[in-house]
Amino acid sequence: MPGNDNALWQQYWRDQQTDFHQTQVNPLLVRFWRGLKLAADSRVFVPLCGKSLDMIWLAQQGYEVIGMELSDVAVRAFFSENRMQPSQRQVAQFTLWQCGKISILCGDYFAVSRADLGHIDVVYDRAALTALPENLRRLYVAHLKQILPPACKIFLLTVEDAEEGETREVTLGASGEITTLYSEAFEIELAHVESVLETDAGEADAKYSEHKVYRLVPR
Ligand SMILES: C[S@@+](CC[C@H](N)C(=O)[O-])C[C@H]1O[C@@H](n2cnc3c(N)ncnc32)[C@H](O)[C@@H]1O
Repeated sequence: MPGNDNALWQQYWRDQQTDFHQTQVNPLLVRFWRGLKLAADSRVFVPLCGKSLDMIWLAQQGYEVIGMELSDVAVRAFFSENRMQPSQRQVAQFTLWQCGKISILCGDYFAVSRADLGHIDVVYDRAALTALPENLRRLYVAHLKQILPPACKIFLLTVEDAEEGETREVTLGASGEITTLYSEAFEIELAHVESVLETDAGEADAKYSEHKVYRLVPR
């Protein structure tokens, strides 16, 4: 159940199978984040953060950042690769690593409470919801609603593939899954869509995916 892929993720990090890691700050974050119109001293939660450089960019904008990551290999790599010397302390069953404006809670997202996290103004989600198998996504969102204060916004990046037989108009709109998961509690703004030719599986199997930017504002 929650976190049922945990052993697998730990193994990926130990084996350095981390193709999902981006070696540059995400350009869609840089382009569309400002549209959230946040207060300058906002605190950003980055669930399932890995060693994402996007946390460095967010901290450089002046925000407090709190990431959440299962693997201590990832957390250690984040701080050492960015030449930061974090302190460590226990918070409930988690280890909190902290340096400057960036903190990372190491442990299972599904076990974290609102009190463990502290106040959050906004969530930055890139490859967190979409990293989970479909059966866990509903639980991921339900848990998010439990640990966030009511006024919290969400900035969500997804990579979506067209369903078979889908019209282009549907492919380019807000996904049915995102609408089902979030629309009860949030107004969903699809801020941007771009079609990207994905060649990871080789030129012959190249196909287009839609890279989407959602801004979710509580109703
Ligand atoms: C696809 S990666 C994305 C990482 C990051 N968001 C990025 O953009 O690079 C998903 C990350 O979530 C972590 N993870 C998976 N399940 C988790 C859980 N239950 N609690 C905390 N972290 C988890 C994995 O170890 C992995 O680093």
